[in-house]
Amino acid sequence: MDVHLTIHGRQGLAGQIYRQLRAGVMDGRLAPGQRLPSTRELALQLGVSRKTTLDVFERLIAEGYLRSRAGDGTFVADAMTRLAPPPPMPATSPAAGSIWARLEDALPMTPADTPPAYDFVGGVTDKSLFPFDQWRRCVSHALRVQARGRGTYRDPAGEQELRQAVASYLAFSRAVVSHWHEVVITQGAQQALDLLTKVSVRPGEVVAMEDPGYPPARIIFAALGAQVVPVPVDEEGLVVDALPANARMVYVTPSHQFPLGMPMSLERRLALLEWAQRHGALVVEDDYDGEFRFEGRPMESLKSLDTAGVVAYVGTFSKTIFPELRVGYVIPPAPLGSALRRAKQVGDWHSCTMTQAALAKFMLDGYFAKHLRRMHKEYAARRAALLEHLRGDLAPWLTPLPCAVGIHLVAAIRAPQDESDMIRRAAAESVGLYGMAGMFVSQAPRPGLLFGYGGIGVTAIHAGLARLASALAGRRQDAA
Ligand SMILES: Cc1ncc(COP(=O)(O)O)c(C=O)c1O
Repeated sequence: MDVHLTIHGRQGLAGQIYRQLRAGVMDGRLAPGQRLPSTRELALQLGVSRKTTLDVFERLIAEGYLRSRAGDGTFVADAMTRLAPPPPMPATSPAAGSIWARLEDALPMTPADTPPAYDFVGGVTDKSLFPFDQWRRCVSHALRVQARGRGTYRDPAGEQELRQAVASYLAFSRAVVSHWHEVVITQGAQQALDLLTKVSVRPGEVVAMEDPGYPPARIIFAALGAQVVPVPVDEEGLVVDALPANARMVYVTPSHQFPLGMPMSLERRLALLEWAQRHGALVVEDDYDGEFRFEGRPMESLKSLDTAGVVAYVGTFSKTIFPELRVGYVIPPAPLGSALRRAKQVGDWHSCTMTQAALAKFMLDGYFAKHLRRMHKEYAARRAALLEHLRGDLAPWLTPLPCAVGIHLVAAIRAPQDESDMIRRAAAESVGLYGMAGMFVSQAPRPGLLFGYGGIGVTAIHAGLARLASALAGRRQDAA
């Protein structure tokens, strides 16, 4: 592998190389166990004599930074103590005045490195059930396609095959009719929100969003300088009458309100569309996990009801495949299409073509539909197991909120239990539970827990919740 070192002048060459390699090991840029180029390769690369690089390697080996294996090469030593991370930036640093320095921790839902044994974290899917063999075939296909390509930048809106696959999937599965030309492939839903805000909201203008709502959406709107106005939700979804008249953009999750779970009623959907048309605002419909419906009939998407061209429909493969894939898409109202493509191009040219080609093949060959059917069945069983406990042995403490869609659901905590106390009690039983407090902005938080079941199987759901119920019951008996 290449190691990037910079040589200034022709003086003290060994010292320059030594200091840079040592610093790389100490701050972790050169990882433990990583193979270094041979002394011959490095000498050639840097235009120095072989003796110079040999001397440097010998010194670093003698000092314990590197180790050599006869006939195999030279490696970064395994047991290096790392330097402490640099101290926080002083208040006078260039970044200190920027909006980024003041943002709350960007994406708070990242799971812990060492998760509890029974973890109900949201935002994860079950990779153990993903058909990696089929995916491998699709990736090999994508490699073959890529090997034939010209080695140049591609269409910022994405590869045609994937856009066609997405358009036809949406038409058949989500009743969202679009032409493939309208689909813009993004790095997850998050980039779709980023681009939509950039092209339709100026700094200082108002973006309205549901309260409680999806924190990463709030953060991206704020990061781009928008004034984010929280709007309450009730059992029918966003309270349209409470929208600020000057909102340029309204962000909603109509299929499965994030986090509470109820769908937006048809009446509210129509009221929101009418409001947006009257106020010249853009409505962003985030349909992040509507694929998994367990009860009732699907309600029409805002996009399919939109006759005035005010809705941007956003979707993602983060829930149907896994979040690391980083593929999402947006179908904007037609007049925003070219600005959105430009914003995508200016930001990152386009998304990775290899992932796009593999995903297109995965969809067009029917693997995606098959995977969705399998996951639907699996998640239905997990949801049923979860509800069995919430309505059974956990009923004295928790009440599930109505929710027919998705891979998480919320349970309200019955008074006088307190959210953080419940989470602490659960953690003591190795059960990972997650609260709702951080998702409310202007409304008083209603105590509740968000149960993700994308990453926990039926057996673990039963075992974890039975443990939790008996621990809570034990405490009740102690108190009696
Ligand atoms: C409301 C909402 N939107 C979107 C997403 C997915 O975002 P992305 O596609 O950026 O991974 C999630 C994932 O948890 C979500 O909860």
